[in-house]
Amino acid sequence: MTVSLREVPLSEVVPLTWALLERAVETNAGPLRLPVLASVGTDGRPQARVVVLREVDAQARTLAVYTDARSPKVAELAATPHAALCFYAPEEGLQLRIAGRVALHHADEHAQRAWDSAGLYARRSYLTTAAPGTPLESAGDGLPADYDPQVGSGEHLAVVRLYVEQLDWLVLSPEGHRRAGAVAGPRGSWDTSWLVP
Ligand SMILES: Cc1cc2nc3c(=O)[nH]c(=O)nc-3n(C[C@H](O)[C@H](O)[C@H](O)COP(=O)(O)O)c2cc1C
Repeated sequence: MTVSLREVPLSEVVPLTWALLERAVETNAGPLRLPVLASVGTDGRPQARVVVLREVDAQARTLAVYTDARSPKVAELAATPHAALCFYAPEEGLQLRIAGRVALHHADEHAQRAWDSAGLYARRSYLTTAAPGTPLESAGDGLPADYDPQVGSGEHLAVVRLYVEQLDWLVLSPEGHRRAGAVAGPRGSWDTSWLVP
C-alpha cells in the first residue's frame, strides 16, 4: 500500500473498506482474508475463531464465510443470529471490526454454489463423517487416530452470510491513531463519524 491509511478521509472509509475486503478475496492473499469470527455461545459466553473470508458484496453490504453445518458455531449463530468479524492488517496498522445480522444457508442453492466454487483442499473440510469437534481416541504413538476416510458430498457445507450493520475502522500510527465508526442506514447510506481511538 503506497498511501498511508492515516490520510484516508472520512468519506472514503466505507468504500475503501469494501475495496480492501474485495481485493483480499479476489487475490486470496493477505491478512484481511483471515478474520476472526465472533459469536455468542449457546451458553451465552463469547466464542471466536479464525475463518476464511469467502465472499464480499459491497452493493448488498454482505460478507460470507463457509463452514461445516455441524460445527458448534452454526448452532450458536442459529440461536443468536448476530456476529462480528475482526480483521487485522499489520503492515497498514489497520483493524476492522464489522458486525451485523447473520443468515445461514445450508442445503440450498447458496450452499450448492459455494460447494461448486470450492477447491479440493477447501472441500476436504466438509467431508468428515463425524462432526467437527467430535472427540478422537489417541493412537499408540500419542497422536490422534485417523479421523476419517474423505468421502461424501457437499451436504455439510453451510454459508454464513453477515448483513453488515456496523463498521469500526482503526488505523494505528506513530503520528496519531485514527478511528472511524459507520452505521448502515437506509438505501445503502452510511452514518459515519470520527471517533477517539
Ligand atoms: C487459517 C485458518 C482458517 C480457517 N478457516 C475456516 C473457515 O473458513 N471455516 C471454518 O468453519 N473454520 C475455519 N477454521 C477453523 C476454525 O478456526 C475453527 O477451529 C473451526 O471452524 C471450529 O469452530 P467452532 O467449534 O467454533 O465451530 C480455520 C482455522 C484457521 C487456523
